[in-house]
Amino acid sequence: MTRACQAANAVNLAQGIPAYPLPLSLEEAAVEAIRSNDNQYTSPRGSTQFRQAISAFEQRRWSMPVPYDPETQICVTCGATEGMLAALLAVAERGSNVIIVEPAYESYAVNLRLIGVEARYVQLKGPGWELDPAAIAAVADRDTRAVIVNSPHNPTGRVFTRDETQGLADVCQRLGIVVIHDAIYDELYFTDERPTRISDIPGMERQSITINALSKMFSVTGWRVGWVTGPPELMGRVARVHDFLTIAAPTPFQAAGAAALSLPATYFDELRAVYGKRREVLVTGLERCGIEFQRPAGAYYVMCDATSFALPGEGESQLVQRLLQEAGVGVVPGLCFYGSADRTGPPQIRIAFAKGEDTVAEGVRRLHGYLGAK
Ligand SMILES: Cc1ncc(COP(=O)(O)O)c(C=O)c1O
Repeated sequence: MTRACQAANAVNLAQGIPAYPLPLSLEEAAVEAIRSNDNQYTSPRGSTQFRQAISAFEQRRWSMPVPYDPETQICVTCGATEGMLAALLAVAERGSNVIIVEPAYESYAVNLRLIGVEARYVQLKGPGWELDPAAIAAVADRDTRAVIVNSPHNPTGRVFTRDETQGLADVCQRLGIVVIHDAIYDELYFTDERPTRISDIPGMERQSITINALSKMFSVTGWRVGWVTGPPELMGRVARVHDFLTIAAPTPFQAAGAAALSLPATYFDELRAVYGKRREVLVTGLERCGIEFQRPAGAYYVMCDATSFALPGEGESQLVQRLLQEAGVGVVPGLCFYGSADRTGPPQIRIAFAKGEDTVAEGVRRLHGYLGAK
């Protein structure tokens, strides 16, 4: 979609590439690391300095009673993407299955296909995108190794409640299933309270893996630095797999990552305030267009019900092409986020508000001009 947007001179509200300035101190930390020849492999689990920074950051941000042990509970990876693949390889083998809660970020299903593990699907329920733990229990069997959840959620912006998370924990503890939580958007929430993490639920610290990254919270998707945390036994397996996938994450950006995670809380407050304004511009614009959607509580996406503007018989891909060519706005068809054969529900499109406020405003202005004229 990004290439198609460039070709069509369209406003790109498709891809989740964040537009947010990098603090100068982080630029300097990366340059300084390269200049001081911090350019060779780190230990596969990551540099000591960065793992200590991750441990302190996670404890501070998540009020953890006991911090992650940098030696045994943290593995630095090449972004959340490699972290997810390493986690899946660590818990699942050929012949087993893993449950994906959909709609879901596209790479999970492809990862499972790459490693020969069956994907099973459970859909978020109703217009409110609720998590249904009973549905997870219904598709699980003795070969189910893990459930992948993502909260704050791409593509719906849902932040799962404490009750939903507790329900998920109850099912997974009863069935002995590991939860892999993709928490990459967990600094981007628009609720009063911080999002709940599955690892916060008593007992789940032994049965869950959490994945995070610098990518979205510092707008450095190209640095390719993420981290995986969890209990020592699972993390030993993650670290062994990671060693043979990529050896280690980029060394200078781990050094800059340590500086990033030491930024004061005001950095994250400001980040949320800026994205909160972009969210407001998008949702008020969509409301003016008469489009149905659930207000996102986190991440930077809105999943829209396209029923009111899809033409009869028009598929989501055709609809997205039409919006690109005729409205001059790039969005993503809902089908990208579904893998199950029995998908139900209305046609959907995902719109991102990762871009600057002016870009988001221009996107909604164009949508309004086009859809308003229909
Ligand atoms: C839910 C989710 N997980 C992971 C990623 C990719 O993260 P990274 O760039 O750190 O690999 C994205 C990117 O859009 C995402 O939306």
